[in-house]
Amino acid sequence: MTADAFRTTYGTGPEGVWAAPGRVNLIGEHTDYNDGFVMPFALPHTTVAAVARRADGRLRLHSASPDVDGGVVELHVDELEPGGGAGWADYPAGVVWALRDAGHVITGADIHFESTVPTGAGLSSSAALEVVTAVALNELYGLGLEPWRLARLCQRAENVYVGAPTGIMDQTASACCTEGHALWLDTRDLSQRQIPFDMAAQGLRLLVVDTRVTHAHSEGEYGKRRAGCEQAAAVLGVDALRDIPVDGLDAALEQLAGEPELLPLVRHVVTEDRRVERVVELLEAGDARAIGPVLTEGHASLRDDFRVSCPELDLVVSAGTGAGALGARMTGGGFGGSAIVLVEEAAAEKVAESVVAAFADAGYREPRVFTAVPSAGARRLS
Ligand code: GLA
Repeated sequence: MTADAFRTTYGTGPEGVWAAPGRVNLIGEHTDYNDGFVMPFALPHTTVAAVARRADGRLRLHSASPDVDGGVVELHVDELEPGGGAGWADYPAGVVWALRDAGHVITGADIHFESTVPTGAGLSSSAALEVVTAVALNELYGLGLEPWRLARLCQRAENVYVGAPTGIMDQTASACCTEGHALWLDTRDLSQRQIPFDMAAQGLRLLVVDTRVTHAHSEGEYGKRRAGCEQAAAVLGVDALRDIPVDGLDAALEQLAGEPELLPLVRHVVTEDRRVERVVELLEAGDARAIGPVLTEGHASLRDDFRVSCPELDLVVSAGTGAGALGARMTGGGFGGSAIVLVEEAAAEKVAESVVAAFADAGYREPRVFTAVPSAGARRLS
């Protein structure tokens, strides 16, 4: 289908078709720019790209997404400059820029994209767009770059070319996740482990609730949190907040007594890293049910200490746990987007209905609820 749409757009066939998924983060939020731990898994929703190389330096990008203006965006690889200005096309163009800036030869491409990753839902549709571009060009141009390295280049595209100061989690999740697993990632040295996470086998389900709200100030607030964490690390004399061990937390908080803005940020990051370790221990012990309260505790920390939640996300958590969910938390950057809710298979429908009813009672737009199944990372389809 994607190949046919490529042919309709460009008049010839593609050389191949690739896919890269969106993600949800199970635990480890706002830790990735503090050199900490994260634990995302890939969704079955993907961005698919049909791609052919060009030798003349032209980069032509086309998206079937109803969210974007339908025309082909035409750029030239020699003229790509950070700052972009081409809207959605900045993400794939930024990847081409980052690859070339790292010394790789890319002489142009025609790309047609299609996506089932919900946009604006905090499920990393932009990382999927970047990573699918990177894996396709890596293969077609014979660059031989490993998935984690492609993720780094995609992060550079997002940080420098697009100008969003995000961490490394989303791109690594899209590039490196495997079916049936959550990805434990140390964002300092990018060491990783695939942790078996088969909820259905244990009679469980993880619901994703897309609140369908994005609060306008989210990007600025993200940057502020990041800057606050860096400032706190400087005050505490460490490279990153990851370096504060949990038994050093009290001493660190005492040192920050005169910094009421910074103190709760540190408390969140240090306790959140510990929660990631706890979830790994529980999953490895085969006790997936027991991660529920850890997820809910993580949400409280994001809401009260890190202050990146919003009423809609809080309502998913309170209505979900109130209706019998084992645990729930916002996932991703916050200020809207999605939350995850861990439920017994038998209670899934009731919990989902309770959350939807609570949204209706509050006068909020109806949320979108679906079941998350840990799926494969980026791959070639044909
Ligand atoms: C966004 C960013 C990630 C990460 C999360 C919060 O998804 O893209 O790098 O910082 O927020 O955990």
